[in-house]
Amino acid sequence: MEKVVLITGVSKGLGKALSEKFRSENFLVAGVSRSKPDFNIDLFIQADLTQEDNCKNIIKETVEKFGRIDVLINNAGVGLYESWETSNMKDIRKLFELNFFAVIYLTKEALPFLKKTKGSIINVSSVAGKLYVPYMGAYCSSKYALNAFSDSFRAELKPYGIHVLNLIVGRINTGFSSRAMGSRKPPETPFGGSPEKFAEKTYRAYIKRKREIWYPYWYKYFVKLAQLFPEIYDRESYKKWK
Ligand SMILES: NC(=O)c1ccc[n+]([C@@H]2O[C@H](COP(=O)([O-])OP(=O)(O)OC[C@H]3O[C@@H](n4cnc5c(N)ncnc54)[C@H](OP(=O)(O)O)[C@@H]3O)[C@@H](O)[C@H]2O)c1
Repeated sequence: MEKVVLITGVSKGLGKALSEKFRSENFLVAGVSRSKPDFNIDLFIQADLTQEDNCKNIIKETVEKFGRIDVLINNAGVGLYESWETSNMKDIRKLFELNFFAVIYLTKEALPFLKKTKGSIINVSSVAGKLYVPYMGAYCSSKYALNAFSDSFRAELKPYGIHVLNLIVGRINTGFSSRAMGSRKPPETPFGGSPEKFAEKTYRAYIKRKREIWYPYWYKYFVKLAQLFPEIYDRESYKKWK
């Protein structure tokens, strides 16, 4: 029987690459976003994930169509480039609704079905959830929270045979920054990782039931170095991001 993956934020960027990779591995793909993808998908559910009721319907529609969920990929997310002083509460709440609360709503709704398949939850987090960045504090906070959710929930889910893979993602060329909120968006650089390679690494990590992977990998060493020399990191990152 074909396995079913449900991917949030499917219309573009990493969601699109994940959809194509899982389809090429014979998964049936259900995907959620506000705009329709311009590529083939087995079930598209148009929804705004920040509305709690939509999360219930997304799981219901997926199970009605395919009868099961084997993998839930919480990928949809948005950035906010602003200082704490100038950012407004409306944007901060919007950010947390999508990057954190929607992940919890959707995962809780999917849980009974993931128990049946002894499935996997894959959360798309960020290097910004391991190392703070000035003028990205709210985004970092949402991803630090997501990391804590992944790690604590993984331990709770062990008795059910459900696995949690947390993805620590550095810059990847998707146009993510250009779609972020806030007034201090950085320019896109050509030096980011590739969405297709990211999807490949994610699939491999899912098969091997890894707890966490970093992509691009070198960010892991950068974060360790920054943690060893916090004063230098503060000074240099302030200079870069201001
Ligand atoms: N790209 C990077 O450099 C990078 C680095 C670190 C972490 N990440 C993380 O990777 C994930 C994916 O990023 P990406 O680069 O692929 O971003 P992206 O290209 O901007 O794609 C975001 C996806 O989320 C969907 N989305 C946004 N708001 C939504 C909402 N309210 N309801 C439903 N869907 C919504 C978007 O579709 P619609 O607009 O059609 O709804 C789109 O499909 C995010 O969690 C991000 O934090 C990315």
